[in-house]
Amino acid sequence: MRAPAAEGSSLFCYTGLAGMTPLAELSQSLAVARAQTDSLFDLIDPGALYERPIPERHRIIFYLGHLEAFDWNLLGRAMEMPAFNAGFDHLFSFGIDPESGDLPTDRPADWPAPGEVRKYNERVRAALDAALEQAPEELMHVAIEHRLMHAETFAYMLHHLPFEQKKSPAPATAPSGPAPQSRMIEIPAGPATLGRPRGEGFGWDNEFEQQEVEVPAFGIAQHKVTNGDYLEFVKAGAAAPHFWICREGEWCYHGMFEDVPLPLDWPVYVSYDQARSYARWKGKSLPTEAQFHRAAYDGEGGREAFAGENVDFRRWDPERVTASPPNRYGVSQMVGNGWEWTSTRFEPFPGFHPFSFYPGYSANFFDGQHYVLKGGSPRTARCLLRSSFRNWFRPAYPYIYATFRLLED
Ligand SMILES: [Fe+2]
Repeated sequence: MRAPAAEGSSLFCYTGLAGMTPLAELSQSLAVARAQTDSLFDLIDPGALYERPIPERHRIIFYLGHLEAFDWNLLGRAMEMPAFNAGFDHLFSFGIDPESGDLPTDRPADWPAPGEVRKYNERVRAALDAALEQAPEELMHVAIEHRLMHAETFAYMLHHLPFEQKKSPAPATAPSGPAPQSRMIEIPAGPATLGRPRGEGFGWDNEFEQQEVEVPAFGIAQHKVTNGDYLEFVKAGAAAPHFWICREGEWCYHGMFEDVPLPLDWPVYVSYDQARSYARWKGKSLPTEAQFHRAAYDGEGGREAFAGENVDFRRWDPERVTASPPNRYGVSQMVGNGWEWTSTRFEPFPGFHPFSFYPGYSANFFDGQHYVLKGGSPRTARCLLRSSFRNWFRPAYPYIYATFRLLED
């Protein structure tokens, strides 16, 4: 998913540039998204291309070919362009999401040389770019957002590579301090609008149909649960989060490019299982997807409301849970500085229809084995911050930029 993604870089996503046709704007967005993903590969030591930093995922070399293969399989086929490397089209077509205990066993020798993959990528880009004025707009959105989602999931992968196998573009760790107190804030009963209406801009298949849900009053924590909060749970016997590492008897946060003494007022990155265990230990629970919507988006307007948050590739790691102003209810960082786990299993909304051109995008995961996350992380592209966007992962998956907050019915 680009030019060096420096701290503070921003990525526009087809926001209606003056004087440009929608397709011209989408083509430009695709070029910017490509620069974003290219820059991630530029950070990797070439000798690490066959590493598998996350055991449940493919080796890095797969992702080098996947982004172009996906675009080719989607756009090239839609424009009836003849295949020039059907083997690569298939080899790099889809990622994996195995159940634990069913890990991939392929070897480096099973994959082609980087030079072959780069040649394939160049040819795909050249062929597609020569024909983009014919591309269906909806598929252009799919290609751009798919790539931007990988800009984040590939960051998880890079995060779990040893420091010596990646180049640091500009380490700029955010300040930290003592963990703040987090009071419970009352959210009045009222409607939550989930999903989006058809015909009003792009959305993935799982974002439809729009529905309104009545939500009884509830209390929600002002802040995300911090490392400092979670440290008390660990001292009481809980296992440490995956992103923590013990150095000379002291806990550190294992960052993208350096380890730092545990920042007590940063949100803690945890799995769903850990979030739920902590909430139970505190006599609380996690918000449902509808409760999250009610507290996060009700009255907040569009995505520009989140301009000051730690999103859109602004940082590689979190910042203080108090770093940005609260919303109209007094709740902070519902969007940004880490996705938030909800207690809602990933299921279709009423009226769901899978994309004909990508039927498994969501439907393959309606298995009761994945939970919805909302909001966004420091590595989530701006266009994916829309309120209807839904993320999902397995409950024990510990490698992602996922936080949580407490709820009280
Ligand atoms: Fe993909």
